[in-house]
Amino acid sequence: MEMLRDADIDSAPLESKRVAILGYGNQGRAQALNLRDSGIDVVVGLRGGSGTAVEVEAAGLRTALVEDAVSSADLVVMLAPDETHSALYREIETKLRYGAALGFSHGLSVRFGLVKPRPDLDVILVAPKGPGTALRSLYLQGKGMIAVWAVEQDATGCAKSVALAYGRAIGCGRAGLIASTFAEEAEADLFNEQAVVWGAVPELLIAGFETLVAGGVSPELAYLECVGELKLIAELIEERGIAGMREAISNTAELGALLGGRRIIDDGVRERMAEVLAEVRAGNFAEQLTNEELSGYPRLRNAREFGRRQLLEQVFEQLHSRS
Ligand SMILES: NC(=O)c1ccc[n+]([C@@H]2O[C@H](COP(=O)([O-])OP(=O)(O)OC[C@H]3O[C@@H](n4cnc5c(N)ncnc54)[C@H](OP(=O)(O)O)[C@@H]3O)[C@@H](O)[C@H]2O)c1
Repeated sequence: MEMLRDADIDSAPLESKRVAILGYGNQGRAQALNLRDSGIDVVVGLRGGSGTAVEVEAAGLRTALVEDAVSSADLVVMLAPDETHSALYREIETKLRYGAALGFSHGLSVRFGLVKPRPDLDVILVAPKGPGTALRSLYLQGKGMIAVWAVEQDATGCAKSVALAYGRAIGCGRAGLIASTFAEEAEADLFNEQAVVWGAVPELLIAGFETLVAGGVSPELAYLECVGELKLIAELIEERGIAGMREAISNTAELGALLGGRRIIDDGVRERMAEVLAEVRAGNFAEQLTNEELSGYPRLRNAREFGRRQLLEQVFEQLHSRS
């Protein structure tokens, strides 16, 4: 695996070029500010009537309507939510300059055909592996976040150099840029969201909390044990890897982990993970995401409301308000 860093990357492909960032949310804000601070000419494209314009301008960034931002830019980066990309691309397709570059921070919309870019465009991916809030705070500390980069379409012969220069300008070259493809990034990211960190881990914490409470343990202690220690293990794994984390904890915890870990995460879990990966690759999730947006996000709204009513959240609020 090749890991490219600032010293390996030429920043010239973005010099004297304008970048339009479409969307000023989690990633859009961080990437626009990092680009500006790296000396790039950046404009943030917003929908008509967007209340976000005030915030963008207060941050010292230029704003424009989406279509005007797009028609003025050499590189247009799609940082609105993935499920809006299809309609957004249809809106901007005729405004994109001939031979411009179209950028993404997630491979989903291209991998699953929600966006089918014009053949004259360069189509690039620079996907920071973490939230925009962290991308920005790391940049301000003089550090960076690892990102994956890819080229889907190289119409001008410059797509790779533009992708790498962009990754460098948002600060990811300080940590490292790893080559991939839109398909690999999209599939791995969607798999992880469902089957590992964002899907399975919170459910494991909830199941552990509920098991202890059902067994007579106080909710506060159950919370501290099953949820409160997550940050500690995350930091240890970040610093030392999984083997190093296991060596760093007490013999009691290490033996408990050895006896219990594979009992809970057994072959059945691995089989269901393989099912999730196959479904992601077949496009089932992309279809569900599109349908969710078209019907006004009913499942997401219900799940958020249900989650807020749970005992675990009440305990979180109690413990949080005392700290
Ligand atoms: N969130 C992450 O941590 C993360 C990490 C890596 C990659 N990514 C990728 O980054 C991209 C952006 O994700 P995000 O989480 O940053 O999105 P987000 O925070 O949900 O984006 C919100 C922004 O998008 C704008 N927007 C929404 N619908 C729009 C439309 N139809 N036309 C124009 N603008 C629209 C909103 O406009 P208003 O201001 O007018 O409401 C707002 O500024 C996605 O491809 C995602 O997969 C995200």
